[in-house]
Amino acid sequence: MPTNHQDSAHSISGSDFSQRLLLWFDREGRKNLPWQKNPTAYRVWLSEVMLQQTQVATVIPYFKRFTERYPTIFELAAAPDDQIMHLWTGLGYYARARNLLKAARLIVAEHAGQFPNTVEGLTTLPGIGKSTAGAILSLAMKKRAPILDGNVKRVLCRHYAVTGWPDRSETLKQLWALTDAVTPTGRVADYTQGIMDLGATVCTRTSPQCDICPLATTCLAFGSHTQHLFPEKKPKKKLPTRETQIVIPQRVDGSVRMERRPERGIWGGLWSFSELPTEVDATQWWRDQEGSEPGDTIELPVIAHTFSHFHLVITPVLLKVNDPTPRVAEVDSCRWVDPRVPEGLGLPAPIARLLELLSQTEG
Ligand code: ADE
Repeated sequence: MPTNHQDSAHSISGSDFSQRLLLWFDREGRKNLPWQKNPTAYRVWLSEVMLQQTQVATVIPYFKRFTERYPTIFELAAAPDDQIMHLWTGLGYYARARNLLKAARLIVAEHAGQFPNTVEGLTTLPGIGKSTAGAILSLAMKKRAPILDGNVKRVLCRHYAVTGWPDRSETLKQLWALTDAVTPTGRVADYTQGIMDLGATVCTRTSPQCDICPLATTCLAFGSHTQHLFPEKKPKKKLPTRETQIVIPQRVDGSVRMERRPERGIWGGLWSFSELPTEVDATQWWRDQEGSEPGDTIELPVIAHTFSHFHLVITPVLLKVNDPTPRVAEVDSCRWVDPRVPEGLGLPAPIARLLELLSQTEG
């Protein structure tokens, strides 16, 4: 006769898994996050996109500002691009903001403002993958749909001792099958929130609290004291380093000349400064393009920023200019900006910090 101990964790039924998780959620789950109040598809979608690469504590004030300014998808769809990028400043991964606007405009133009109510329909929209679609369906529409975000991957990798880096295609396939198998048909919103909460608060990456975990009795990793070995790490690639300089022309009134970056490439559509190869002399560059003689140049502290594919080291050069009417036109993609009030401009975080520095050291 099998004892409880021999009762293999492999054969744990999905309903047992979800029942224990739901009991835990009732006691310990998060119930007062701003997007849990009035969880419409719009509010859940907005929060999920913000939470895709950003922590809850950082997201909360952004979510509140967005929903105050754009209470429904109609206001969001009608907002100018620059306003959205400005409100997004500091959250990073700006492609999310651009996709957000594209999706909002599509939903308004093609679906009369209603979110599609299937995984297939939702995943045709920019920025919505299968897991975000599952979260919208379960949290807002109360439909059974599995999710597989980073937290859920960690819980499942440990519980079922899934080997391989979780984002490898074979591992992903296995994890989708598992999340589908353990997702219940009832209380889908609580279950979805619960498994994310368990991953975020108990089954954490570096110090899982297995002693208080509702799933520990059937967790294969815990059973073999190997919870710290799951999920496996991504095989490391060494990132290359690129160097560049940005030139900050500054007039006597303190204003600096900013440029909107091209839509494609890093910081696409955001406001920064003219970028030059490091070997180009900033003074000569100004002479060549403006035909006037600049004043002093001041090298500012370098900015190091890591993107997904490379490290970037930026040397900012402040170039004092006297010419009050430079030849460059005040066109859409180029502006003189007061560094103390970069109103309405979407800025990459390191450039926002640079403006802050300039406004403190002015004069
Ligand atoms: N991370 C992703 N979605 C979340 C949610 N709804 N609550 C908390 N953390 C999350």
